[in-house]
Amino acid sequence: MDNTHTINEIRSKVDIVDIISSYLPLTQKGKNFFGVCPFHDDTNPSMSVSREKQIYRCFSCGASGNVFQFIMDYEHVSFKEALLILSQKTGIEIKGLQIQKKNTKYDRFYQIYELAHKYYQNNMNSSYAKKAKEYLTNRHIDEAMIKEYKIGLSLDKPDALTKLLVGQGYDYNTLNNIGLSTSDKDVYINRIMFPLYDLNGRIVGFSGRRYDGIKENKYVNTKGTEIFQKGETLYNYHIAREYIRSKNQVIVMEGFMAVIRSMTIGIKNVVALMGTAMTKEQANLIKRLSNHVILCFDGDEPGRKACLDNGSELEKLGCQISVVELDNGLDPDDYILKYGKDSFQNLVNHAITLSDYRIKRLKKNINLNSDLEKTEYIHSVLVETSKIEDEIHREFILKKLANEFEIGYNTLEKRLLSLIHENENERKKVIEKPLLVSKNEDPKKDKYNLATYALLYYMMVDQKCLQYYDEGKIYFPNEEERFLASEISYYYQKYGMITPADFYTYLQDKENLLTVLNRVLELELDPNLSEKALLDYVHTLKEYQVKKEIKKLENEMKHENDVMHQAQIGLKIAQLKQEIGK
Ligand code: CTP
Ligand code: MN
Repeated sequence: MDNTHTINEIRSKVDIVDIISSYLPLTQKGKNFFGVCPFHDDTNPSMSVSREKQIYRCFSCGASGNVFQFIMDYEHVSFKEALLILSQKTGIEIKGLQIQKKNTKYDRFYQIYELAHKYYQNNMNSSYAKKAKEYLTNRHIDEAMIKEYKIGLSLDKPDALTKLLVGQGYDYNTLNNIGLSTSDKDVYINRIMFPLYDLNGRIVGFSGRRYDGIKENKYVNTKGTEIFQKGETLYNYHIAREYIRSKNQVIVMEGFMAVIRSMTIGIKNVVALMGTAMTKEQANLIKRLSNHVILCFDGDEPGRKACLDNGSELEKLGCQISVVELDNGLDPDDYILKYGKDSFQNLVNHAITLSDYRIKRLKKNINLNSDLEKTEYIHSVLVETSKIEDEIHREFILKKLANEFEIGYNTLEKRLLSLIHENENERKKVIEKPLLVSKNEDPKKDKYNLATYALLYYMMVDQKCLQYYDEGKIYFPNEEERFLASEISYYYQKYGMITPADFYTYLQDKENLLTVLNRVLELELDPNLSEKALLDYVHTLKEYQVKKEIKKLENEMKHENDVMHQAQIGLKIAQLKQEIGK
């Protein structure tokens, strides 16, 4: 069944600017809106979104498309799923559209983890769980939390789970491969089991914590598999996502226990790295969730180092970073249990900027008896200060420094201004990249290309031009452009109208045609086409084609020995030249 009308209706009911804004901040400049492209590493606003055309385009990486494409790429979903997301937003029902989950070879893995998870949960309700429950109670994890966070228990038996799963028809090999068994025995023995999820909320592994008081191997995580890499997920991502979007702020912690605690006190825009190390993938995930990041790592040296390191990485991606500092030795879980919810909320509300945090940290390591160290310190503080936008904030820091080290305010200010100047020059270098030409573009955009793209564009927006084409008056020299033209004509005949944004949907599987379409839409042409302009474009293409033909004939003539034939070819060439007025 052809859903094109409904699909186009859904697309036309939403505004791409609103939809993209719900994922990332956009600012209007002239007719278009700009934001930082989520599809490559960047800090510059190289993605432009056109309300008029209902398409987006990144000038840097070339990502482009309509609202469906954006959702597909951003949410990692299929076209149908993207459609469903939008149909929910608009309330338009799509008859006959059934989302069929693709059967992948991983389905078995998901099934197994689900079974294992049910088993662990059951154990938690059995008489074996007495000690584990005691442990959890001591940690202030009550029954409701056990349920809510699906906490389970693996038993003190060597192969209970493996046996159970083999009994259900799964083979040892698979169980070993997906990290639940090793040498045909259970990986998890006598541990409290926390499910780990992929970005869509499917269970793809576990983290098992020992509860016998021994510190070694505190946690055992499921090994990396084809569907789970610790460094490519964030704990709580699928749940926190909506809270993060609505607050436009993400809190990042180290451990999932801290996240669970934070969730229970109602602070839900929170995810965990599961350790202090942050991978590039995780950084990108965080940036996609929100540009406003609050780092809330443990109050110990690794936690503080992680703030500086991860903060810098995220800053490079264009995030605004604040830092919550916890008392020595406490992690967010400990802090909340010790001081309570309000006190923690207060800390989050008063998180300091990464710059302030750096300045604070720098001071801890200097030897106040060494002029050299003091000088270096002051310089580093000024470097940090030069990144702060608020002038008053900068002045506070300068005054403090001047007093503390008995240095003239003017001396400090002079240095600061020159640093600010340097920063600005750096920034300009980046911004002055031309916006309208993408990297892969052929610089030789001659008049034939222009005529080709223009005619393809006007075929979509101007009846006259389409008619010209249908009457055989326009001939496109290159194959891909010919294909695109015939698709435009076909689409128009079939649906009676065409808008570029809908045409994107139609072409979604034809990558080479999409490339041409992007070139066409990039040109920003005036939608009103005069008769004269149309004729000019048509003539230009004709000229191109004829010139090509002449070249071919001239070549033929060179290799022709028969004088009669030569004369015939010469005549043809003359005729062609006359045709284009040369
Ligand atoms: N982690 C791990 N393996 C370890 C230690 C830690 O995978 N041996 C990961 C876990 O995902 C954990 C995170 O790093 O959630 C943070 O570690 P840590 O601060 O030591 O754990 P806590 O969350 O404080 O756990 P607990 O309170 O149970 O000690
Ligand atoms: Mn802890």
